[in-house]
Amino acid sequence: MSAAPRKPGDPLIDADAMLRVNQAGEYGATRIYAGQLAVLRKDSPAAHAIAGMARQEQRHLDRFNAMMAARRVRPTALQPLWDVAGFALGAATALMSEKAAMACTEAVETEIDLHYGEQLEQLGATDPELAAEIVDFRAEELEHRETARAHGAADAAAYPLLTAAIRAGCRVAIGLSKRI
Ligand SMILES: [Fe+2]
Ligand SMILES: [Fe+2]
Repeated sequence: MSAAPRKPGDPLIDADAMLRVNQAGEYGATRIYAGQLAVLRKDSPAAHAIAGMARQEQRHLDRFNAMMAARRVRPTALQPLWDVAGFALGAATALMSEKAAMACTEAVETEIDLHYGEQLEQLGATDPELAAEIVDFRAEELEHRETARAHGAADAAAYPLLTAAIRAGCRVAIGLSKRI
């Protein structure tokens, strides 16, 4: 992968498409956590941790929504799909167990970290406003992954299969949201 610096206006840098996929991802994250919180006992440590992460995802989403409005970028047409799929993934993993819910976060954040890292490399110095948000949010996504690990994500039943499937699903969702 080329890390050569690119200039503003370079057609290979499409900040609008980046914003679109990022907003879709943050939206999906809020839906995953909503699904998990709908299932988990409200007074459990897992639910408490997830509620805190969900508040941060909402901040990420609000910020990308504002940037999209300011830049007149349309959201992905797949938003209704991520609404349902995100909630279903959250609810399904929480129904498996609290640790499976945490394994979901660990898997998702691993893909998001790679995705944001790739975007930062592509952006270089071309869009400091967007890059600053990505740096900020990426740090919180990595905190989420650590939180998930601290809550026993790796002890979930079928952990390798579960996380591999969720990571594959994330990559598909990212690929689709870039284009549609
Ligand atoms: Fe986020
Ligand atoms: Fe996150």
